[in-house]
Amino acid sequence: MPQKFYLSTAIHYVNDDPHIGHMYENIVADTIARHHRRMGDDVWFLTGTDEHGQKIERAAAKEGILPIELADRVVKTHLELWKKLNISNDDFIRTTQARQRIGVYELIRRIQERIPDDIYLGEHAGWYCQNEETFIPENQVREKRDESGHPVEWTTEMNFFFKLSRYAEPLLAHYRKHPQFISPQTRMNEIVSFVEQGLKDLSISRTSITWGIPWPGYPDHVVYVWMDALTNYISALGFGTKEDQKFRRYWPANIHLVGKDITRFHAVYWPAFLMAAGIELPKRILAHGWWLRDNQKISKSLGNVVRPYNIINDFGADAFRYFVLREMVFGQDQNYSDEAFLSRYNADLANDLGNTMARALKVSETYFGGKTPPVPCDDNDLLRASRELVPEYLRAMDEFAFQRALEIAWRFLVAVNGYIVAKEPWKQFKEEGASDSLSRVIWNPLESLRIIWVMLAPFMPSLTRDALARLGSDPDAIGSEDLKWGGLPNGVPIRVGESMFPRADSAAYIGGTMSNPPIETTQAAPPDLANVTIDQFREIDLRVVDIRAAEKVEKSKKLIKLTVFDGTSERTLVAGIATRYSPEELVGRKVVIVANLQPATLMGVESNGMVLAASIGGEPSLLSVDASVPAGTKVK
Ligand code: MSP
Repeated sequence: MPQKFYLSTAIHYVNDDPHIGHMYENIVADTIARHHRRMGDDVWFLTGTDEHGQKIERAAAKEGILPIELADRVVKTHLELWKKLNISNDDFIRTTQARQRIGVYELIRRIQERIPDDIYLGEHAGWYCQNEETFIPENQVREKRDESGHPVEWTTEMNFFFKLSRYAEPLLAHYRKHPQFISPQTRMNEIVSFVEQGLKDLSISRTSITWGIPWPGYPDHVVYVWMDALTNYISALGFGTKEDQKFRRYWPANIHLVGKDITRFHAVYWPAFLMAAGIELPKRILAHGWWLRDNQKISKSLGNVVRPYNIINDFGADAFRYFVLREMVFGQDQNYSDEAFLSRYNADLANDLGNTMARALKVSETYFGGKTPPVPCDDNDLLRASRELVPEYLRAMDEFAFQRALEIAWRFLVAVNGYIVAKEPWKQFKEEGASDSLSRVIWNPLESLRIIWVMLAPFMPSLTRDALARLGSDPDAIGSEDLKWGGLPNGVPIRVGESMFPRADSAAYIGGTMSNPPIETTQAAPPDLANVTIDQFREIDLRVVDIRAAEKVEKSKKLIKLTVFDGTSERTLVAGIATRYSPEELVGRKVVIVANLQPATLMGVESNGMVLAASIGGEPSLLSVDASVPAGTKVK
């Protein structure tokens, strides 16, 4: 029977659409899941959404809708995105599902049954802020105000507490006995020193939260959101129900993958709850780093959230998956920029991988009648390279060193390219035609590329299928056996096809999408730029113009060249709006432009100004004015 492997991500809050942090987490989990599946494990991969608590309650109140209405809407974006990113989760839990409530109640019941005084009713006292509807930590309160100046009041309420203080020693003993329980090691060290300072009992119910799971027997109490959230890992398996075979099969989890900011909840509170309930602990808490923007963590409150939906739409899910896994050293933080994506895309994917594929396929197509060569080869430098690199790659995968695993695949790729260049098969063909010796020379790079794609399968699952099919191989042959030399069939049809990674003109992509940025950011203005003076504003010449002609810019998906009349003369400008507007529907329209922007050349066309458009999820929407407003009218 195959080994079971249960892997989970954090459950993501539904107060907003997912951003790059959530995407990264699910891509990492998916890569681990796919790797374990192909090594023969019986994988169960869970992700989901955290739908309770004040965050969601408040976001819903802002829109004047119920929390569940907000959750129902936002969860759709999550589900669509996971599909688009090729996330192969076996289950998806929402904390608002019935199975979650059953799991939470069963966990509480077991704790109360085993150690009755582990959960007790006590008084919770603290500074309560009406505006924030939450307790404010003592060190953030000054003269009865919180850090934002809202008044706070000393408030006491009755809450249920969990005797966490009792678990410091057992937890430390567990960490000692299982040195891999928390990784990377830096996170283990942090947690150990936190627990060594002693643990305070934990408030696990609240009366001040209304959106959550009611505390059994106390309808005005709600199970505190973290106890609720953490229980998802067992309630998703049917814990507490009669149909708990899945729980018996897959628990304890092999990996809980989480971001470094929430390690404490998973490595301290959750194991303590489980110990109290007499349930086995998960085997490993694996913590990843943060995606940053300009060295700051992205967050809704900072307003610098990155959602690179356009990159995914334009370059495909797999290229984006490759990028995040290659760019970030697992466990560490990394800045995101679209420029970095484009340069990796061009260098690694278009140049190294795409060109090597095209070159190797092309020679076989030309010299062996559109087929793989008839004679294989089992003694050559590439075979030796594969014997050295594949085990190294597998080690990296086992250590979650995705960046290293990809670097190793690229080392192999560079060797393949070098082999083709050194062997000059085109010369050999001239001398001896489609000989057995030429067959071997051409078979080797193709066989190596097949193995490289098998290595890449967990990272770029859908492109792998395409690539293997081009190589005349079975698109589903991505198991551990397929990493061995010798799997490429002989004399079967291959397909060169269109380039797998067409080169991107990065300057044009970034420049051309000015009104449609590839990364949708709502960057918080630095404090000294938050306000501009009226004089500064007057320096910008905003004007109504009449669009007289429009045509698509050659070879660009996004750019349209516009000829506009600005009241005195005609000028040309380039706008990144072709994904939304056709040239025909633009002619005759009145729009607003920045008329005194320095000219810029985009894809060879000079642009004298910028058309104003709102960006909705990256899609441009032009600002328009009444047809009666004459061209040249100033906007102020
Ligand atoms: N709902 C809680 C987790 C409960 S798990 C039982 C939560 N949700 S979250 O939506 O805020 O974050 C979900 C996951 O995304 C967390 O693992 C978090 O660390 C991760 N990320 C959020 N922002 C991130 C980055 N900027 N970069 C990488 N991942 C980060 O916390």
